[in-house]
Amino acid sequence: MLKAKTVSESAVRDHVYRVFPNDLNSNHTVFGGLVMSTLDRICSVVSERHTGRVCVTASVDSMHFLGPAKHGDILVFMASVNRTWRTSMELGAKVMAENAHSGEKKHIVSAYFTFVALDDRQKPIEISAIIPETPEEQRRFEEANFRRERRRSEMAERASRNLSSITTKNTVFVS
Ligand SMILES: CC(C)(COP(=O)(O)OP(=O)(O)OC[C@H]1O[C@@H](n2cnc3c(N)ncnc32)[C@H](O)[C@@H]1OP(=O)(O)O)[C@@H](O)C(=O)NCCC(=O)NCCS
Repeated sequence: MLKAKTVSESAVRDHVYRVFPNDLNSNHTVFGGLVMSTLDRICSVVSERHTGRVCVTASVDSMHFLGPAKHGDILVFMASVNRTWRTSMELGAKVMAENAHSGEKKHIVSAYFTFVALDDRQKPIEISAIIPETPEEQRRFEEANFRRERRRSEMAERASRNLSSITTKNTVFVS
């Protein structure tokens, strides 16, 4: 039986990133791909801290860009495990944009990542359970199950669509 771990044992609370001109898109705000890539890297660290295994991104859902960040802002990235299942886990990620001079902080991005732990043969492997301690961690833990159900029904729908397109391709119509 794997030892359960607390959320704080793996969480990243304040990874800071200074925005420079080469981080901007043609609208002079931070390029969204930079934020997505950084979040994915941070979530891989959180998932590997939690599991002690190589972990891969299985899916990303509810990636919302809530507001822009500008040149000179400081981006503060946060990510932690919301819930674990047998071999997969959901991580909640959030980014704030901070103006270091005024102290103003804006919540600019939220997303949920699912990571899966792999064994030495690249097969999904069982992971430690997560222990939510604070009321906030408990709320995220409860809500994660609803999102997993949604993901699973989307996966089932995709699988049935693929299956029906294969069936259609192989069908011989006789008139
Ligand atoms: C993610 C991956 C390892 C799953 O492998 P699989 O053979 O489909 O494994 P299973 O069907 O046994 O599922 C394993 C777990 O992954 C979860 N899972 C699989 N696909 C998922 C998806 N699209 N979204 C969320 N969870 C997913 C399953 O629910 C299961 O979780 P559980 O054990 O906690 O219940 C495999 O699809 C893969 O290697 N994908 C590519 C990952 C990658 O390269 N990422 C980098 C970005 S390019």
